[in-house]
Amino acid sequence: MRTPLIAGNWKMNGSVERIRAFGEAFAKAEFAAALDIAVIPPFPYLEAARHAFSGTPLTLGAQTLNPQPAGAHTGEVNAAMLAEFGVTYVLVGHSERRQCYGETNEDAYQRVRAALDAGLVPVLCVGETLAERNAGATRDVVLGQVAAVMQRLNADQRERLVIAYEPVWAIGTGLTATPEEAQATMGEIRAYLVTLDNALAETLRLLYGGSMKASNAAELLAQPDIDGGLVGGASLQIDDFFAICQSAG
Ligand code: G3H
Repeated sequence: MRTPLIAGNWKMNGSVERIRAFGEAFAKAEFAAALDIAVIPPFPYLEAARHAFSGTPLTLGAQTLNPQPAGAHTGEVNAAMLAEFGVTYVLVGHSERRQCYGETNEDAYQRVRAALDAGLVPVLCVGETLAERNAGATRDVVLGQVAAVMQRLNADQRERLVIAYEPVWAIGTGLTATPEEAQATMGEIRAYLVTLDNALAETLRLLYGGSMKASNAAELLAQPDIDGGLVGGASLQIDDFFAICQSAG
């Protein structure tokens, strides 16, 4: 069985006060079943979050990383720095990074490798745009993004990944893929993983992202190939995020 993972990507939102409030709210949280939870705040809040989340079920994620080991890369943060700050998960290839900062599949691969080498868990984000969806290219785009990274990893590296399927048209729009639509594409990802290795396909966690909220999480998470959520907007409110976690755990 795959332990569900609910990851809250705060994007460029948050404050020290919000970090503290989440730590307090989750300090006594109990869930009916095994559940992994991550909060992914902006870089400056990692240290505050490490302290505030200590002793709670909340683990820490980062939103991106630079794959270089060190050097003259103004404004960038490397994998070793994230590991030093107690980060467990790091997002790679989020559609906002692909669209706004031109990150490619090659960039995603380099970041996944750097994350793995530092002992972090990369959460590889994939998903089709609305134009690609309307052109009937969802499967090709999504499997292309997955394969571009997976084909270049060895078996040990592959099994340490999480993959998040986020249809770009559903991110921050209020439009959610129906559970059946999400399952159809995520089933294709699982089928691709089977072609690499049966055991990998059984254990690798697939998250859905795109306007997941308290009211639709249970239905999405009930799908056989949805093992958790990458939650944006709804992860900023304690009650909403807690309710989504309860749907999973
Ligand atoms: O990383 C999270 C996703 O981009 C989903 O964001 O829940 O605000 O649509 P959203």
